[in-house]
Amino acid sequence: MWTQALTKPDILNLVYLLAAVLFIFGLKQLSAVKTARRGNFISSAGMLMATVATFFFISGGQWISLIWVFIAVLIGAGIGLYLALKIEMTGMPQMVALLNGFGGIASLLVACGDFARTPAEHGSWDSLLATGLATLIGGVTFTGSLIAYGKLQGVKWAPDKPVQFGGQKALIFAMLVGSLIVSALIAARPEDAISNGFFLVLIALVALTLGVLLVIGIGGADMPVVVSLLNSYSGLAAAMAGFVLNNSALIITGSLVGASGLILTTIMCKAMNRSLMNVLFGGVGGAAAGHAAAGAQGTHREFSIEDATIVLDAAQRVMIVPGYGMAVAQAQHAVKELAQELDRRGITVNYAIHPVAGRMPGHMNVLLAEAGVPYDQLLDLDQSNAELEHTDVALVIGANDVTNPAARTDASSPLYGMPILNVDMARNVFVIKRSMNPGFAGIQNELYFKENCGMVFGDAKKVVSGLSAELADQ
Ligand code: TAP
Repeated sequence: MWTQALTKPDILNLVYLLAAVLFIFGLKQLSAVKTARRGNFISSAGMLMATVATFFFISGGQWISLIWVFIAVLIGAGIGLYLALKIEMTGMPQMVALLNGFGGIASLLVACGDFARTPAEHGSWDSLLATGLATLIGGVTFTGSLIAYGKLQGVKWAPDKPVQFGGQKALIFAMLVGSLIVSALIAARPEDAISNGFFLVLIALVALTLGVLLVIGIGGADMPVVVSLLNSYSGLAAAMAGFVLNNSALIITGSLVGASGLILTTIMCKAMNRSLMNVLFGGVGGAAAGHAAAGAQGTHREFSIEDATIVLDAAQRVMIVPGYGMAVAQAQHAVKELAQELDRRGITVNYAIHPVAGRMPGHMNVLLAEAGVPYDQLLDLDQSNAELEHTDVALVIGANDVTNPAARTDASSPLYGMPILNVDMARNVFVIKRSMNPGFAGIQNELYFKENCGMVFGDAKKVVSGLSAELADQ
C-alpha cells in the first residue's frame, strides 16, 4: 500500500499542503461580498486542519501530553468567541487591531521562547536571523496595534491627533536600522548563546518602543490604513516564527497574510491618492471637521425635504452615494427604507460605493449589508461612474471628499488625482449633511457650488427618514 510508505512528516506536509490550498481558495472567495462568508469558513477549516495535525504529530500521537495546550486553546477560543459576538459592527477595526497585536506578540514569544528553550539548537545563522526578525516585527506589531486600538476606541492614552516631535523620524530610522544590525550580529555569531540572548532582549525592547513611536505620530482617521499595514506585519512576524520552528504551514499562512495586508494597504493609499510615506509620516488628520475649510468658495443652494422629494419623485434612476456621515448618523436602515419607497414607485435605485468612503475598508458595504441592501445594487467606482452620467438624481448621504470634482480639475487641491465618484455628472445632485463644514481632507467641496447641486441640511438619518415619509404621503 502506498500509504505505508508515507512517513509522519510526509502526512503532516500533505495536510499543510491541503491547508495552504484551502487558504488560497478562501482568500479568493473573500474578494467578493457574496462569497466572503464562505471564504472565511474555508480558510478557517484549513487553519483548524493544520493546527490539529501539528498537535497530533508533535505529541507523537499521544494526545494526553498536549492537555495544557488544549486548555489554553479553549480559554483563548472562548475569549475570542465572546469578543466577536459582543463587538458592534462599527467596532470591527478596533477588534482587528487587537487581533493583529496578539499575532505579533505571539510570534515574538514563540521566537524568544524557542531560543531560551534550546539555545544550542540555534546553530544556523538563518534560524537566528529569523529569531531576531520575528522578535523585531512581532514587537512593533504588538505595541503599534495597541496604539491603533486606543486611537480607534478614543481612549485618553492614545490621542486622536498625530503626536509628533522633532527628530522623531530620525529616531525611528536609527532604531530600525540598529535592530536590523543587531539581528545580523546574532546570526553572525551562532556559538555565542549568552550575548545572543542579551541582544534578543534588546531587540524586543527596541521593537516595543518602535511600535509606539511609529503609530502615535499618525492621525486617528488614518488608523484603518495603519491597521491593514500592521496586519501585514503580523503575517511577516508569523512567517519568521515559521522559519524559527521550521513549520511550513506557518510560513505559508504568514506570507499570505503579509502579502494580502500589503495589497489592501496599497489599494487604500491609491484610493486616497496618498503615498504610504505620507500616511506614516505626514501627520494628516485629527482636526479637519468643524474647522474653516480651504478650497472652493461660492454660493450654494439650499433645498427643503419637501422640494427634494418632488425632484426625487420625478426621477427614473437614482444613485445613493453613502459616506462617513451615513455611518455617524447610523442611517443605513433609513436609507434602505427610502430605496424601497423609491423602488415601489418604479424608480431604479443603485448605490455608488467609493473604496475609501467612511473610515475603514468596506465601511459602506458592511453597513448596507447590515441593513439588508441587496449586494447587486452596490456598484464599485467604475460601475458607478459609468452609471452616474445617466442618473437623474445622485443622493449624496454624508459623503464629501469622495465626491469633490476638484480631484479631477484642480491641480492645487490635496485631493487632486484621487479617483472620485463623478456625482456632478448626474442631472441633479442632493447632498445631505449638517453644515458646510469640510470632510476628512479639510477642504471645501466644489460640488456644493455647482448649478445642478442642492444642499439638504440636517442629520442624515432624520433627513432620509423625512424624504421617505414625504414620498409615502405623495
Ligand atoms: P468625509 O469626506 O470625511 O465627509 C463626511 C461628511 O459627513 C462630512 O462632511 C460631514 O459634514 C458629514 N456628516 C458627519 N456626520 C453627519 C451626520 N450625522 N449626518 C449627516 N452628515 C454628516 O467622508 P467621505 O466622503 O466618506 O470620505 C472619506 C474620507 O476619509 C476620505 O478623505 C478618505 O481618504 C478618508 N479616509 C478613509 C479611510 C477608509 S479606509 N475608508 C481611511 C482613512 C481616511 P457635516 O459635518 O457638515 O455634517
